[in-house]
Amino acid sequence: METQSQWGSKLGFILASAGSAIGLGAMWKFPYVMADNGGAAFLVIFILFTMLIGFPLLLSEFVIGRHSKTYSTRSFGHLTGNRVHNLIGHLGNIGVFILLSFYSVIGGWILIYIIRTLFALVTGGKQQDYEGVFGSLISNPLYALGGQALFIGLTALIVAKGIQNGIERASKIMMPLLFVAFIIVIIRSLTLEHAMTGVSYFLKPDFSKLSADSILFALGQSFFSLSVGFGGMLTYASYLDKKTDLTQSGLSVVLLNILITILAGLAIFPATASLGIEAAQGPGLLFIVLPYVFDQLPLGQLFYLIFLLLFFFATITSSISLLEINVSNATKNDNNKRVKAVILLSIGVFALGIPSALSSGLLSNTKFLAGTFFDNMDYLVSNIMLPLGAFLFSIFTGYLLDRQIAHSELVTKPYQEPLFKIWIFLLKFIIPLVIIGVFLSLILK
Ligand code: PHE
Repeated sequence: METQSQWGSKLGFILASAGSAIGLGAMWKFPYVMADNGGAAFLVIFILFTMLIGFPLLLSEFVIGRHSKTYSTRSFGHLTGNRVHNLIGHLGNIGVFILLSFYSVIGGWILIYIIRTLFALVTGGKQQDYEGVFGSLISNPLYALGGQALFIGLTALIVAKGIQNGIERASKIMMPLLFVAFIIVIIRSLTLEHAMTGVSYFLKPDFSKLSADSILFALGQSFFSLSVGFGGMLTYASYLDKKTDLTQSGLSVVLLNILITILAGLAIFPATASLGIEAAQGPGLLFIVLPYVFDQLPLGQLFYLIFLLLFFFATITSSISLLEINVSNATKNDNNKRVKAVILLSIGVFALGIPSALSSGLLSNTKFLAGTFFDNMDYLVSNIMLPLGAFLFSIFTGYLLDRQIAHSELVTKPYQEPLFKIWIFLLKFIIPLVIIGVFLSLILK
């Protein structure tokens, strides 16, 4: 029997969706790619893609989820009467399983650094040889796998408690804390010497640095960081009542995501600039550059701890949405089966994640196709499955879904009528074309 869950409030739904969106994409990948690709020029392109591509896709996930009121591997066929369409849901269901398997590796690193920094705070020791420490921690199988297991375990604990008591409650606590932590770190960053050099480096547009690759990345990022293409937002919207305005809620999620992207830059660049460090340091930014930066400051380790916690909140609110997609499909929304499904799926995710966790250590020399096992999983999900999912979502909504269904879900006020027409136009013509263009340029590269 289906015992369909519901969000307790509209705010809970928005915070959970924003929590899913805001994650490693916006806070970890974005700042260093942006620093490398023309600063604000890149931000402008990203915002454009987010509004014209990510946002319409987010609304299409919302429409399908709320109208079908069911899990993602059933919702498509349920709306059109053709079960073949459920393949879109299956693609996403497999995609998130793979994504969580390596997302949790980074989540594990964050947890390990939280524990380390807590210790350093208590013992008053300074961390030295930042690069060496990072390298030896993530290459140690005990830490890499232990951190990953712990991260998956925490995700599982929240998801096992269900929609209102688990996901909604966690989001309502963590998302406001995330903002508070951000404000603290940004004030600290902006009051450093030379902070403005960092701000202008971050905000001054340099269009000459924009390459074809940066445009591709900005596009991929517009799906990834809004969590669209795999049915995560569909799943969350299936727990939503009929009263909530989808366009407004979607816009809130999009704006929060853009805001956080900018805040992340404001937290990081002034701090690195004040010490004259190049910010474009790749993934090591959080674990190598920032601990160094903060160690130079009074109370620096405390600020670094807050920074890490901020990353932890952002990451886990995304990973719970990833696991929830699998759980809703595995249980067919029968809450009595939730705990068992959470346990089995978490074990599965961990097992698949083992080679990814070991990719920075034991398996670092085992390379094929795109690089290490981790790199391959990332490539498969971010460059192939997610754009494919996004493409299918746009085709489904633009061509296969009854226009009346979408209309009834989105247009509740007269001013939304013209927006609806633009939305359909983007989904039918622009989004599929842009995605095909990106695919081709990746393959022909
Ligand atoms: N949006 C998340 C991030 O930026 C990742 C994600 C993708 C989550 C797809 C759910 C579904 O980290």
